[in-house]
Amino acid sequence: MNKVKRKAMIAGNWKMNLTPAQAAKLLTELMPLVQGADCEVAVCVPYIDLFVAAEQCANTNILVGAQNCHWADKGAFTGEISAPMLRECGATLAIVGHSERRQYFGDTDESVNQRLKAVLAGGLRCILCVGESLDEREAGSTEAVVRRQVTAGLAGVTKEQLGGVIIAYEPIWAIGTGKTATSAEAQEVCGFIRTLVAELYDGDAAGKLQIQYGGSMNAQNAAELLSQPDIDGGLIGGASLKAQDFAAIVAAAGK
Ligand code: PGA
Repeated sequence: MNKVKRKAMIAGNWKMNLTPAQAAKLLTELMPLVQGADCEVAVCVPYIDLFVAAEQCANTNILVGAQNCHWADKGAFTGEISAPMLRECGATLAIVGHSERRQYFGDTDESVNQRLKAVLAGGLRCILCVGESLDEREAGSTEAVVRRQVTAGLAGVTKEQLGGVIIAYEPIWAIGTGKTATSAEAQEVCGFIRTLVAELYDGDAAGKLQIQYGGSMNAQNAAELLSQPDIDGGLIGGASLKAQDFAAIVAAAGK
């Protein structure tokens, strides 16, 4: 397939898994397997693992990120973590708007937008997650939902800042279910996102944007998904917890 050359990013989303000692063990296994990869490689780890992971991944090709970020730099927000804190721990990116945050912790399009702007202002790159539920897909509103989430998520973000944004399309029905979107379904929505970003910004910005697919991506289905013209990487949950599986996805992205 004649694919526009954008660098792919394969990012692990460890979710609430792995203690610092377990994180160190997984990264030790992973590092030699992804060394010299032909794509960007990242792990988004629990906050308490950031220090250990960043120290271990310094001078390697593995980027370390967080899974969320508060919108204020500091203050009375018990249990939250800010962008300057993440940065000092060695994170260079953060996920915002993951569907589990939206579903279980009350994140809204507005708060996700606030978080995204704080991540960018803090000098980190940001993975903005969007995606429809099964009900929304079956009701034919996938594009309307994704349009709303992308438009609201990027509100107030300049074209220059957009360079620090990666959008992850993660249909909720495919997350952790083993039920992957077909490559055609994933491509259709990722292509829609690129067209939308061209509408919101311009063709140049849209052409440069990295768009990931996420939702039960694994060593078996990665190559097919990643060969789609508008899919520039993956956000990987379950399979990112196994070094061999994650490395196989990274290898598929380099092809
Ligand atoms: P999964 O998770 O790969 O386990 O489906 C993806 C995600 O939630 O980012």
